[in-house]
Amino acid sequence: MSDYLLEMHDITKDFNGVKAIDGIHLQVRRGECVGLCGENGAGKSTLMKVLSAVYPYGTWSGQILWEGKELKARNIRETEEAGIVIIHQELMMVPHLTVAENIFLGSEPRNKAGFIDYDLMNAQAEKLMARLKMSDINVALPVYNYSGGKQQLVEIAKALNKNAKLLILDEPTSALTTSETRTLLDLIKEFKANGMACVYISHKLDEVAEIADTVTVIRDGTHIGTQPMAELDTNKIITMMVGREMKNLFPREAHTIGEVVFEAKNISCWDVTNRERKVVDNVSFELRKGEILGVAGLVGAGRTELACKLFGCWNGDHEGKIFLEGKEISVRAPRDAVRLGICMVPEDRKRHGIVPLMGVGYNITMSVLKRYTSGGFIQSEAELAEIQNQIIRMKVKTAEPLLPIASLSGGNQQKAVVAKMLLPEPKVLILDEPTRGIDVGAKYEIYKLIFELAKQGVAVLMISSEMPEVLGISDRVLVMGEGKLRGNFVNEGLTQEKVLAAAIGQPITEAA
Ligand SMILES: Nc1ncnc2c1ncn2[C@@H]1O[C@H](COP(=O)(O)OP(=O)(O)OP(=O)(O)O)[C@@H](O)[C@H]1O
Ligand SMILES: [Mg+2]
Repeated sequence: MSDYLLEMHDITKDFNGVKAIDGIHLQVRRGECVGLCGENGAGKSTLMKVLSAVYPYGTWSGQILWEGKELKARNIRETEEAGIVIIHQELMMVPHLTVAENIFLGSEPRNKAGFIDYDLMNAQAEKLMARLKMSDINVALPVYNYSGGKQQLVEIAKALNKNAKLLILDEPTSALTTSETRTLLDLIKEFKANGMACVYISHKLDEVAEIADTVTVIRDGTHIGTQPMAELDTNKIITMMVGREMKNLFPREAHTIGEVVFEAKNISCWDVTNRERKVVDNVSFELRKGEILGVAGLVGAGRTELACKLFGCWNGDHEGKIFLEGKEISVRAPRDAVRLGICMVPEDRKRHGIVPLMGVGYNITMSVLKRYTSGGFIQSEAELAEIQNQIIRMKVKTAEPLLPIASLSGGNQQKAVVAKMLLPEPKVLILDEPTRGIDVGAKYEIYKLIFELAKQGVAVLMISSEMPEVLGISDRVLVMGEGKLRGNFVNEGLTQEKVLAAAIGQPITEAA
C-alpha cells in the first residue's frame, strides 16, 4: 500500500486561458497535517477545489491518486464518499435552515415512513455541538441567528459528522475567537491522533506552525517548496511565500493627531432577536482627526454591533448620540453615513460588502456612482480609469477589471472592498476586521494605507481581533467586553496581557 493517502501530481487549472495553478504537487500521508501556504491569489483554494471535485475531473490536468488509486471524481458527493471533506473559505450555510438542518443537509435521518426525524436529528446535532464545546447553541434555531464565528464552527461540526479521512480546512479560523480557535486546533489534533489527515490553509502562520507536520508553499500558482515544519519557522514560511524576507510587519509612521472630529455618546444597542438583551451598553468615546483608534475585545464583545450603529445599519433597537465635527448627526442608514463622510468596511464581506456577480471594478465604484453620472449618463471612461487606478493602488489581483468579484481569491475581494470604502474620501473610516483572510504582504500594504489616511487627517476606527495588529498600528486602544467599554488606553507600553485583562473585566494589576 502506498505510503501516501493522497498524491496530487502536476495539477494545472486555468480559467478562460489564465492559469490559476500550474504544475502543482501535493502529498499527504495518513494521519498527517499539511499546511498549505501562499499569498492571496496564489492558488490554494483552487487546488483544494480541484481535489474535492468542485472542479470535476476533466476540467483540469494532472493526476490525483487517492489511497494509491487514480481519482476521477465528477462531483463533491463522490469525493465525500471517498472520505475527502472540504470546509470552504466562504461560509456555505443556508441562513434560514436551522443549525441541525444545515449539519444534516442531504443526509437527514428519516423515520420508517420516510419523513425527516427531527427529534433524532436535533439530538444528534446536540451531541456534536457538545463535542465541539458549543452546547450553548440551540440547534433548532435558524443559523442566521449566530455570528460568523459560530457558523464556522457549525460548518466544522458538519464536516466532522462525515467521517473524513482527509479534512480540508480553508481559512477556518478567520472568523473565530481565540478560544474558538483553541477548540478547533485541539479537535484537529484529537482527530489526527485517530488517524485523520488534513490540509490546513491559513494566513495565520502561528496556527500552521502549531498544527502542520509538513508545509507546502505555492506562489503565483507554482510550487515553491515542501518541507517538514520541524525545519521551518513562520519567518521562513513568509520568506518562501513572498520571495523575500520581511523583518518589520507594521510600518508605523509618524502622523499628527488633531482635534476631536467624531464623538459617540452613551451608545446602547439591543439584540435583534432578544429585545431584552443589551449587546452594546452605554459606550462613549471620542475620535480625533488623524487618529488610529483600535477596538479590541473578544468576539461577542459588541464591537461589530457598535460599528453597525455608528454606520446606520444596526437592525435592533438602539439609542445614543453621534457628533461629527461638533454637530449632532442622524445616521439612519449607511447612505446617510457615507454622505456625511463616515465609511465602513464591514466584517462580513459576503453579506454586506460585495455584489458577488458584479464586476470587481463596479463593486469598487459602487460607493461613488454619482461621481460618474452626469445628466443621467454614466461616464464610463472616467469610471474605468478610476477602477484601473484603484486596482493598481490596492494591488488587487484580477485577470480583468470587470470580472465578477466572486471569482477573485478571498483576500483580493477584501482589498476591493477596502478600495470601495476609500473612494468617497471619508472623514471617519470604520474598519471591522480589515485584514481578515489577507496575506502578510497585503496586510502590510493595508497598514501602510491606514497610516497614509491618518496622515491626511482621516480618523480611523479599527476593530480587530488580532492583538498584534491592534498594538502594532493603533495610537489608542478601546477595549470592549460584554457590550461595555472596559478600557481606553494610550498605546504606549501597552501589552496584550493588559488588553486581555480589561476585555474579560479583570482588575488591571501592573506586573512588578
Ligand atoms: N472561478 C474563477 N474564475 C476566474 N478566476 C478565478 C476563479 N477562481 C479563482 N480564480 C483565480 O485564480 C487565482 C487563484 O485563486 P485562489 O482563490 O485559489 O487563491 P488563494 O490562494 O486561495 O487566495 P486567498 O488567500 O486570497 O484565499 C486567482 O488569481 C483568482 O483570481
Ligand atoms: Mg483562498
